[in-house]
Amino acid sequence: MSESVKINQLYYGDNLEILRKYIPTETVDLCYIDPPFNSQHDYHQIYSNIGQEDKAQAQAFVDTWTWDDRAIMGFETITSNADGLSTKQSIELIIGLSKVLGKGSLLAYLVSMTQRIAEIHRVLKPTGSFYLHCDPTASHHLKLVLDAVFCIQGGQFQNELIWAYSGGGRPQDGFARKHDVIFRYSKSDNFTFNADAIRVPYNLDTEKYTSPKAWGSHKGSSKSYAPNELGKIPEDWWVISTINSQSKERLGYPTQKPEALLERIIKASSNEGDIILDAYCGCGTTVAVAQRLNRHWIGIDITYQSVSLILRRLEQTFGAEILETIAISGVPKDMAAARALAHKKDDRLRKEFEKWAVLTYSNHRAVINEKKGADKGIDGIAYIQDSMTDYKQVIFSVKSGQNLGVGMVRDLGHVVTREEAAMGILITLEEPTKPMRQEAKQAGSYQNQLTGQPFDRLQLVTIQEILQGAKLSLPLTHEVLKKAKGQSNIAQEAFI
Ligand SMILES: C[S@@+](CC[C@H](N)C(=O)[O-])C[C@H]1O[C@@H](n2cnc3c(N)ncnc32)[C@H](O)[C@@H]1O
Repeated sequence: MSESVKINQLYYGDNLEILRKYIPTETVDLCYIDPPFNSQHDYHQIYSNIGQEDKAQAQAFVDTWTWDDRAIMGFETITSNADGLSTKQSIELIIGLSKVLGKGSLLAYLVSMTQRIAEIHRVLKPTGSFYLHCDPTASHHLKLVLDAVFCIQGGQFQNELIWAYSGGGRPQDGFARKHDVIFRYSKSDNFTFNADAIRVPYNLDTEKYTSPKAWGSHKGSSKSYAPNELGKIPEDWWVISTINSQSKERLGYPTQKPEALLERIIKASSNEGDIILDAYCGCGTTVAVAQRLNRHWIGIDITYQSVSLILRRLEQTFGAEILETIAISGVPKDMAAARALAHKKDDRLRKEFEKWAVLTYSNHRAVINEKKGADKGIDGIAYIQDSMTDYKQVIFSVKSGQNLGVGMVRDLGHVVTREEAAMGILITLEEPTKPMRQEAKQAGSYQNQLTGQPFDRLQLVTIQEILQGAKLSLPLTHEVLKKAKGQSNIAQEAFI
């Protein structure tokens, strides 16, 4: 299929770099972002369950907002207007905040957000809208930044939306924090707002004189408050359930936002055919809703797990054809790019090479191993159905180093035995040695109980082969079941 039909774009990388390099000025109609703050839960959920020995490293990784080289460079870029996007107010704000807050974690966060908000302002069309989702711990600071970027350049503050929800823990020494803040800004006073697309029914208990029915019999009220037959425009506080363990749309991504929230934002502030940007797109709620509502979209995320999850989410919701309409950028396409990813120094990209290799080879079906320590050597796990009632693991281990040895194959063999897994797959950046191949050959085979099909128990795959399109060739669960029993009622399709 030609490039021209690839109308949607998914970028793997740091949004600041991607926005600067690839997103032209004044091309986006609506941008929503839901950036992480200072907490481990928000940033890399993947390290919430770490073993003791990796704790120090993981800590360095999750604690993104430290006053480090990146923050210093950001501070200098803003204050010297190096990218031409600083306003006088944003320079003075950041200098002023540095005096009030000191050069620490919070300032690092605000520097990072200021740079990105300035880029988002640049890429928005003059009629564009911006929604910034945050929590009350930083919202007051972010509003200053937004005013300094938007309002100074003809933009307008439109709303502070409160997304209210219940569920989760309740402290005994205070009021439970059960809302997020979403700021809505427009780039000018000429912006899209589709009131009729988002109307909701009147609340007849509390709004007895504003419901159309009651209005007829009620005299003496001001005409400007005449009710609308289609319902009312929602207030600036929205009660929408969070994603919980019972939610149908739940993907297991901890910061996943509900589709209903994005649906209201997208319907209100864009039209069919418009371009929607989410520069922190996580598991792809914005892009999935934009797709459903016939908008074009641009998604950016810095972790390959997100890219992988989004591709899978879109494929499962809209069918495999959708993948043909998405241009995916930033994902290694040759050995030089794969090597560059493997050897990146950026601590935010730690383990990205391993994740990319496992998820690509397993066609996004494997899960990344969050646990370390005792599970060292296991980078990912996929599941195959072994019998009518049992699943078995396929264990992935990735080696990005130059020094490969037969011991690595043996180690993986031990892990496969210990875990009672079906097989182990060793993915190597460099070509494995002859003894490694011999060792793998001698490891015997695994026979699937349902199909009787044999597979090598230990398999070696190179990055070169993955780049050429090699994929894990295991039958899908439902295919296995069909072959085994000829049955059509398939309960479990989620795995391989
Ligand atoms: C709170 S989550 C977004 C969740 C999303 N709204 C959803 O419903 O799935 C924030 C995301 O931002 C990504 N992220 C963090 N820093 C980034 C950066 N500099 N560039 C691009 N993505 C980034 C994280 O990987 C994470 O997936």
